[in-house]
Amino acid sequence: MNDPQSDNSFAAGAAYIDGRYMPIGQAAIPITDWGYRRSDVTYDVVGVWEGNFFRLEDHVRRFRSSMRKFRFEPREGDEEIKSVLNRCVALSGLKNAYVAMDCLRGRPAPGMPYHPVHARNYIAAFAIPWVWVMSPEVQKRGGHLITAETLRIPADSVDPTAKNFHWADLTRGQFEALDRGADFALLLDSEGNVTEGPGFNVFFVIDDVVLTPDAGVLEGITRKSVIEICGDLGIPAKVSKVPAAEARAADEIFLATTAGGVMPASRIDGRIMGNDRPGPISMKIQETFWAKRAKGWHATPVDYAAVAAVV
Ligand SMILES: Cc1ncc(COP(=O)(O)O)c(C=O)c1O
Repeated sequence: MNDPQSDNSFAAGAAYIDGRYMPIGQAAIPITDWGYRRSDVTYDVVGVWEGNFFRLEDHVRRFRSSMRKFRFEPREGDEEIKSVLNRCVALSGLKNAYVAMDCLRGRPAPGMPYHPVHARNYIAAFAIPWVWVMSPEVQKRGGHLITAETLRIPADSVDPTAKNFHWADLTRGQFEALDRGADFALLLDSEGNVTEGPGFNVFFVIDDVVLTPDAGVLEGITRKSVIEICGDLGIPAKVSKVPAAEARAADEIFLATTAGGVMPASRIDGRIMGNDRPGPISMKIQETFWAKRAKGWHATPVDYAAVAAVV
């Protein structure tokens, strides 16, 4: 009864694939597409909260930069991508949404040389109900983290500043966390410095200074927002190397991502930080983040009237 493939309504979400709009349950890509067979995709995710996109321009700019780095050339320009995203949200009617934009490689047409240069790249996008990477309940007690044995894919192999589907290391980290009774994994690089985790950047509070890794990471839009908030609050913030030993001894740790905002932790590798609850600096930054958003910080209102032309 709940087969998403037979869901004919937009209420569960709306999608766009290569020029066409459809209910999320009907959105599918060809099984032969290199976007699927080779993870040859780049993407971005922007949040909509209470009817407003957050930092839409920043997300579309980063999406374009990721496309350039992986040599994707879809036919849609940035303005059209923004209007596609708006239309997906408008069709769904969602006030709080997770809004994805993907560029897929496609596949060379039959008879063409089997090289990615001969594939026609195309855009897919969708809006579905808001996703919390860390549930509100876990945010209250603070996430339990581990430093994973699995290392992050070297940045020289897959550029982490271009959002990509090479998630095997991150997914393996998620299972390591599960096996060790924790919620989330932080991945290190080959030199033992912290990078990031499955879908988030990480911040450490050490002696009242907020630190976030400088290399081997996606330059997160939430990370950038946190750094701006630290400036507003007069909290010293530094982008620098964070060796695993320093990470494990941090006073506080929090995670940052579009799908959840600022998400505090309370344990790392079994060590309890503070009183086993989110620390005061993490809480202050989290509160400020949501308070600023409620006041329209970097907000672009969704135009919910923009549905007529497509249905
Ligand atoms: C690997 C990785 N790092 C960091 C982030 C956080 O980036 P942003 O704050 O732009 O969502 C994400 C977001 O999905 C991610 O996938």
